Amino acid sequence: MIDNTFLQDVVLGLSTPQKTLPCKYFYDEYGSEIFEKICLCQDYYVTRTETALLQDIAVELTALLDGSTALIEPGAGAMHKASLLLAKTPALAVYLPTDISADFLKNAAQRVAQNFPNIPIEPISGDFTQEIDVSAMVEKYNIKRRMVFFPGSTFGNFNKSYGLEFLHKMRLLAGDNGGLIIGIDAVKPVDVLERAYNDTEGLTADFNKNILQRINQELQGDFDLDNFTHRAIFNEHKSRIEMNLFSDIAQKVTIAGGHEFSFAKDEFIHTENSYKYTPEKFAEIASQAGFTLQKYWSDPQNYFYVYYLS
Ligand code: TRP
Repeated sequence: MIDNTFLQDVVLGLSTPQKTLPCKYFYDEYGSEIFEKICLCQDYYVTRTETALLQDIAVELTALLDGSTALIEPGAGAMHKASLLLAKTPALAVYLPTDISADFLKNAAQRVAQNFPNIPIEPISGDFTQEIDVSAMVEKYNIKRRMVFFPGSTFGNFNKSYGLEFLHKMRLLAGDNGGLIIGIDAVKPVDVLERAYNDTEGLTADFNKNILQRINQELQGDFDLDNFTHRAIFNEHKSRIEMNLFSDIAQKVTIAGGHEFSFAKDEFIHTENSYKYTPEKFAEIASQAGFTLQKYWSDPQNYFYVYYLS
């Protein structure tokens, strides 16, 4: 059985003059596994920098929480970063992690519940691009305030207009007396950025090519993965890393029996962006979305920022 939405998205993306593939298809089980490895690898500074920063400022952040505040985390994944906060939290009404992968969410929530037996936890499965409904929890846990937590620089993967829309949604989710704690990767020397997304272990290349692999397996594609090369390039003008798959030779690829696509030598498929923000630029966008920047923190090299918005 072919997933028609996946097929349509792929056919549409490969039919435009600048070929693209939607990044949401990176994250099947294998993709999620490689992504965990990327986060741990030496060249990818992002995860370890943010983790160390969160550890450093955990006491300050948890001072923003109390027994009538809910901590809501859209796309919580393994909940590693929230755990750094929960470990230092004196009191919390409830922790509400959400994730698109229901099984993954349930398992992670069980681990967190064991580690923090005094903190109520209610996993909510769902896609954070859709509305997150916490109304049922408000009465149950006597929630008076909502703090949204969005680490990982996932905000950097949104384009400008969706980024603004996302912040608007988070403002509604947080409510008038709530807040948002968000982690965002910063602009920095190009060599550091490009090394992070072209790691020497080839993990990011594997991750990027996994989308071709999925097309082969799930949509009867015949991509020869050896004839494509992953290359991430920092576009200074747009302040973003652009993830691409370059065709090493002139070649044709067929998908689902009928759809044929030609690639010129050195033509590339664009798969993902990772925008890098200066604090000034992010503060500007946050205020456009109706937030007030209260405070922000950074690591000693100013590689990564955690912002607290109200
Ligand atoms: N939010 C992460 C980032 O932009 C996601 C990420 C890391 C990623 N490496 C990637 C996304 C490679 C796609 C491909 O840093």
